[in-house]
Amino acid sequence: MPLFDGRVLANTEIASDYYQMDFSWPTDVRAPSPGQFLTVRVSRTAVPLLRRPFGISGFIPAESHPADPPEAIASMIYWRRGPATALLAGLEPGDTLGVMGPLGVGFPAPEPFSVPILIAGGVGVGPILFLANTLAAAGYAPLLLLGARTASSMPRVNAHHHVQVRRSTDDGSLGFRGTAIDLLEQTIGVVSGRLEIFCCGPEAMLRAAHECAVRHGLPAWVAMEQTMGCGVGACMACAVRVNRPERYARVCTEGPVFRSTEIAWE
Ligand SMILES: Cc1cc2nc3c(=O)[nH]c(=O)nc-3n(C[C@H](O)[C@H](O)[C@H](O)COP(=O)(O)OP(=O)(O)OC[C@H]3O[C@@H](n4cnc5c(N)ncnc54)[C@H](O)[C@@H]3O)c2cc1C
Ligand code: FES
Repeated sequence: MPLFDGRVLANTEIASDYYQMDFSWPTDVRAPSPGQFLTVRVSRTAVPLLRRPFGISGFIPAESHPADPPEAIASMIYWRRGPATALLAGLEPGDTLGVMGPLGVGFPAPEPFSVPILIAGGVGVGPILFLANTLAAAGYAPLLLLGARTASSMPRVNAHHHVQVRRSTDDGSLGFRGTAIDLLEQTIGVVSGRLEIFCCGPEAMLRAAHECAVRHGLPAWVAMEQTMGCGVGACMACAVRVNRPERYARVCTEGPVFRSTEIAWE
């Protein structure tokens, strides 16, 4: 597994307790694809001991920007919620970050000529933003639905100009009033074409997106977020029940992205 020290380039608050960290990515490490993740060693001390998983929210290849020596830039969006992410929030440009990645299986390409509808809530915003910008650059016109509880927790994101962004808040303080799934239902009702759903967020949202997709007969892909130990397939900490003969899949190596019908929703 590629292990490297990333150099922090920026660490910016983009909503209340949400941050975007940009860091250097060596040219000899494979470029990540949307939906893949990293594990990060946030401290050189014993606490917190475990590496923590984070999705990748953007990637600028070395050849697309000037740097001497050449290096790529990766980004992640994280929510400061406990000891590891509090340490991350305290890092400054020039600090180093112990990274392992890219890991896991990301989102598949949508069917040709389909309209991708991308939905994110909570910490799901990073992987979905990376997917939206990658699809827009490849000629798709994705719809990006971002859900948050209230306006102050809605991350400010840099979306490609071909990405159509719609926002929902539970309290109606920004954009559509309701959940991202309510907005998804409304969007499905007004957008024509061959729709395909891609979702990343809390499990309740993934399940609701799956149920919505089944109701409308649409294909859906979900990025699962399980507690991880090793991150490389060795410990089974991340196992999720699936509708397959073997009954369990490891989210870190067989996911995190699955076709929504593969998951045995509890
Ligand atoms: C595939 C994947 C992608 C993720 N992407 C992102 C992301 O893009 N941005 C982001 O902010 N968060 C992401 N997470 C969750 C992130 O790993 C946790 O927010 C982080 O580990 C919290 O650590 P903490 O010490 O700050 O908080 P803690 O107080 O230790 O934990 C808070 C919560 O974070 C989750 N968590 C803690 N440790 C782990 C772990 N080892 N594996 C998985 N979840 C854990 C649990 O739900 C826990 O209740 C992702 C998790 C997975 C599995
Ligand atoms: S985290 Fe160890 S097998 Fe997935």
